[in-house]
Amino acid sequence: MLSNSNSKSLFERARQVIPLGVNSPVRFFDPFPFFAVSGKGSKMATVDNESFVDYCMGYGSLLLGHGYPAVTESVKRQIEDGSLFCVPTEGEVRLAELMSEIVECADMTRLVNTGLEATMNAVRLARAFTKKKKIVRFDGCYHGAYDYVLAAHGPTDISEGLLSEAVSNTIVLPYNDSERLEDQIKHDSDIGCVIMEPVPANIGLVLPERQYLNEVRRITLQNDVVLIFDEVVTGFRLALGGAAEFFGVKPDLATFAKALGNGFPIAAIAGRKEIMQQLSPNGKVYQASTYAGNPICVSAAIATIKTLCDAKSEIYPKIARTCDIIVHGIRDALADLKLGWTVNNIGSMFQTFFANNKVTNAYGANKSDPSIFRRVFFELLKKGIFIPPSRLETCFISYSHSEDDVDKTIESYHEALRTVKLTL
Ligand SMILES: Cc1ncc(COP(=O)(O)O)c(C=O)c1O
Repeated sequence: MLSNSNSKSLFERARQVIPLGVNSPVRFFDPFPFFAVSGKGSKMATVDNESFVDYCMGYGSLLLGHGYPAVTESVKRQIEDGSLFCVPTEGEVRLAELMSEIVECADMTRLVNTGLEATMNAVRLARAFTKKKKIVRFDGCYHGAYDYVLAAHGPTDISEGLLSEAVSNTIVLPYNDSERLEDQIKHDSDIGCVIMEPVPANIGLVLPERQYLNEVRRITLQNDVVLIFDEVVTGFRLALGGAAEFFGVKPDLATFAKALGNGFPIAAIAGRKEIMQQLSPNGKVYQASTYAGNPICVSAAIATIKTLCDAKSEIYPKIARTCDIIVHGIRDALADLKLGWTVNNIGSMFQTFFANNKVTNAYGANKSDPSIFRRVFFELLKKGIFIPPSRLETCFISYSHSEDDVDKTIESYHEALRTVKLTL
């Protein structure tokens, strides 16, 4: 696979007109990525007539699977009725009502288009509400590609072109270390908000240690700091009510995207009424967008949420069980590897690290071996299994993954690791 292919020639064309041929960095992998033509259920088909069992699933967006019928039908109906009005629609009201029914902190919701927009406006709201300038984020958590949250404290090591003002007002702390957080917040009265992925899924997959999220909540409450859960990945996935429901911790604001639209670009900021009411035109925190609440994406989100609500008792146990079986199979396949490894998993998400220690933060994830991961990735690809091409991403199960997919996946991991073991 990946030789003499249509993907190869498309990539040659793409790199002339698109920076390194891709519209988002993680889509590139050496020597060139495959090009997709269609997706159905758990599978993605390529321009080379290949089919992959997909564990990228739109980086977690496709919770129900590619082209889920109820979502597709709803979108088709809406397209017939019009794609953009830029005046309010009943669908927007219905979606915000559903958010309030499902998400505990969601007294009010505002719709936007991407995760980036959601977290950026949530941070602005938190700053305005607390009248404090600085924000805390955690090393390895990703909140979108804009200045405040790409910034490290001090010289930037992530991106050029960031504003120094944004860099100096963003404090980056290690995840899973509540003592460091408490110390920082107690000694800096200008911290207005803490933004975090409750379960970091952009540094591979990292799990919160026992009581960590409760501690973050206690510390932020005691110090009048707004807590933002960035549930762009975990929202609707870890539980219907996201990580907040799963762990029983209620933030002040939460952001959603990905699974909310099952593949359609829609996102939301939700939270406490007194904070949300500051948004313009009600309040003085300016936020606006032509496409926000566009009827097509709203219809996709309503169909997704209705499906999740109606079959909640079947969907969540099924995707968690599927993930457990796959992780069990991967651990078996890794058993006699002459290298350290660990598989982190929760709900319908998992990731394998080739590392000697448990991976509990960005430091541990970054120390894991990228070259073994890369070899496993390519061996799996040869067998028709597509996992995200980086160890610093997460694998996602959808409701459409079948028992056959699971059997094929476990068998493929065994064969892939057998091949990799021979070369160690
Ligand atoms: C946790 C989290 N927050 C925010 C974002 C940004 O979302 P988007 O890519 O829709 O702007 C992402 C994207 O992967 C994410 O994983």
